[in-house]
Amino acid sequence: MQQQELSSKIKQLKKEKNAIILGHYYQRAEIQDLSDYIGDSLALAQQAAQATADIIVFCGVHFMAETAKILNPSRKVLIPDMQASCSLAESCDAEELAKFKSQHPDHIVISYINCSAAVKAQSDIICTSGNAEKIVASLPAEQKIIFAPDRNLGSVINKLTGRNMLLWDGTCYVHNDMQASMVQQLKQLYPEAKVIAHPECNPELLNEADFIGSTKAMLNYVKQNTCSQYIVATESGIIHQMQKENPNKQFITFADLRNCACDDCKYMKLNTLEKLYNCLETESSEIIMSPQMIESARKPIEKMLEISKKLGIIR
Ligand code: 13P
Ligand code: SF4
Repeated sequence: MQQQELSSKIKQLKKEKNAIILGHYYQRAEIQDLSDYIGDSLALAQQAAQATADIIVFCGVHFMAETAKILNPSRKVLIPDMQASCSLAESCDAEELAKFKSQHPDHIVISYINCSAAVKAQSDIICTSGNAEKIVASLPAEQKIIFAPDRNLGSVINKLTGRNMLLWDGTCYVHNDMQASMVQQLKQLYPEAKVIAHPECNPELLNEADFIGSTKAMLNYVKQNTCSQYIVATESGIIHQMQKENPNKQFITFADLRNCACDDCKYMKLNTLEKLYNCLETESSEIIMSPQMIESARKPIEKMLEISKKLGIIR
């Protein structure tokens, strides 16, 4: 089937089945264009919690679809490719985290949303890159904290808040592999460009950045800034939305320098238009979780949403 035919069939199925499509900024352009709502992890979690449609098709990675199911368990939650994992989620095993917790009984656990439901169930509060700093800063200064699983985001937050959180040793393979030397080369080619980076990047790269923030925060920064060129240190999918919102600005990626697909997340890109169509038609693959797991993973996510509302990060 051609892309146009697939897109119109997806729209038709969506209507017939009272389904909505939630899409992350790292999804393929054609999927973003079909999504009812595009956002970062925080906004998508909030959208999922409020959704009234019978079916939520989550075009993102598995932990995101799982979060949608946890927050809205009476809906059918589907993901186009069940294999769409995340290297951060894979880096943190729930049993190992439980062992680490028992070695630090006076610490609470804040986990980045990029983790499994079993890890969420072991956590006191969940955070995203859009609210991590404010959530950590809202806790009493003497509160001891274990931060899992992203050590790069954790050290950004330690620096910003002056804390000394214990960091789990996990990374996102896409962002951690982006090298500061590549930014330096791009800066020589585009000396006027601003460097914007996701906090999952390694500390050396982040030292080169003019702005560090979540996907949504990067989009906001570009919209509000008058500069006409940006070196973008994050997954390639975001360029689609950036370019749409800022047609007269230029976005430079690592892939441009190397002529490669090094800034594609192999997990995010598993979702294709064809799989999205099949997923809606056959109503699979469905996220299935035990009520006990839903219950224990929901508490720390709800805590995050509650703090985020109180701090005015979301409404
Ligand atoms: P955001 O919450 O900033 O969209 O990030 C999600 C993600 O997976 C980053 O790699
Ligand atoms: Fe996970 Fe990295 Fe892919 Fe985001 S970009 S989903 S953190 S592997």
